[in-house]
Amino acid sequence: MDILKTKSDMQEWSKNKKNQKKTICFVPTMGYLHQGHISLMEKGKPLCDELVLSIFVNPTQFGENEDLDSYPSNIKNDLSLAKNAGVTAVFLPNKNQIYPENFQTEISLQSLPKFLCGKFRPIHFGGVALVVTKLFNIVMPDVAIFGQKDYQQLQIIRQLTLDLDFDIQIVAGDIIREKDGLAMSSRNAYLSKSQRASALSLSKSLNLAKELITKGEKKSKAVKNQLESLICTFPETHIEYICFCNPKTLEDVDIIDRQVLLALAVKVGKTRLIDNALIDP
Ligand code: PAF
Repeated sequence: MDILKTKSDMQEWSKNKKNQKKTICFVPTMGYLHQGHISLMEKGKPLCDELVLSIFVNPTQFGENEDLDSYPSNIKNDLSLAKNAGVTAVFLPNKNQIYPENFQTEISLQSLPKFLCGKFRPIHFGGVALVVTKLFNIVMPDVAIFGQKDYQQLQIIRQLTLDLDFDIQIVAGDIIREKDGLAMSSRNAYLSKSQRASALSLSKSLNLAKELITKGEKKSKAVKNQLESLICTFPETHIEYICFCNPKTLEDVDIIDRQVLLALAVKVGKTRLIDNALIDP
């Protein structure tokens, strides 16, 4: 497994592979890898000749009061997990490689970032769009894999790929859950034992919504009220949003008469957790 720390080394590596007619699959991450990331690597491995992983905690996607400085990291463990998953190169740049002095460019999308997490994290998706654009230009992959847990991010990357004419196939990876239902996330590491129990309020809400909708409830407001009541029974929870929306545009849906995306963001203590499910009536 090659480890590349500079932009030019990574580009050189990819150009070399392309000259050899090798295809490249890319899994971008911020590190502190867990089973969710491993499933993305496993999904990507058979799709191309080469599998590239990037580890970069991207400062432009964190707001001022967010967890950039405390974001968990364990590079040694990440590299060993990557190797076991069959990664052929890891791109491990420092901040200066990605954002050198006097860096000026921003990327913004008009509509998708206005919904869900974008309402609470106003600069987040601009930062994601920017770093992913840069990573695409540096790694030059044929396929790139993003987890569905960050559903809004996935939609934004799909749109950006289309709008900016990247010749890259975007593949979605399933949400990977702990045995009890909690969606895997690097941020789960912040939870105390009691908070870990309250974190189950998210997956339990998704299950309750599925049950109500399958039984025939069509009004999103009615389902939302029940989810709010459920989440409030768990200590230390604070609901940021519960949204039923159009899975493509992310616009609110009032009447559930076709597939909807149910997306949730709940703070458990200081830790912000998200989860989602596509639900068919
Ligand atoms: O999903 C993530 O881990 C990050 O948002 C990404 C796509 C690696 C960009 O920094």
